[in-house]
Amino acid sequence: MAKKISILVVNGPNLNLLGERDPKVYGAHTLDDINDYIKTSLRGIELRAREIGIDVSISVAFYQSNHEGALIDCIQEARKSYDGIVFNPGAYTHYSYALHDAVEAIPIPVVEVHLSDISNREDFRRTSVIAPACMGQVKGLGRRGYVDAIEKLVVTITEKGLR
Ligand code: DQA
Repeated sequence: MAKKISILVVNGPNLNLLGERDPKVYGAHTLDDINDYIKTSLRGIELRAREIGIDVSISVAFYQSNHEGALIDCIQEARKSYDGIVFNPGAYTHYSYALHDAVEAIPIPVVEVHLSDISNREDFRRTSVIAPACMGQVKGLGRRGYVDAIEKLVVTITEKGLR
């Protein structure tokens, strides 16, 4: 019997403008396109997991906000209903200690994702103040990064026997 794993994908400020915002950096896909891509990738994640002896059935839900407090509320609430979070904090990555603390405060694992390679852009993007509270970071892989992050979560969640 496959273990059920539910993942919340959270996107922060300005990511609602994907598709029209700086496509050379962030690509041509809208956030809805990316979320559809994540949904259609779930079966592949489950099959790859089975190859390494992990039998899971994965579900995803999505949330986006441009507001720090709303993101904090969402992350706090997520601990009650989800097994892990994929989080692209947008520009909050670089200065929100409040989001760092929210991630640190919850018992479920969080993987930070960035569409672009934040280590090869402006200096202010090189630092993530949220990363130390996360179990991992995926950057520079575009929409594929969200799928990689879910794979990391699945392995961690099943290895730790959280479910
Ligand atoms: C981003 C990188 C951040 O520096 C930027 O502020 C974003 C998007 C990314 O996905 O590459 O809004 O998180």
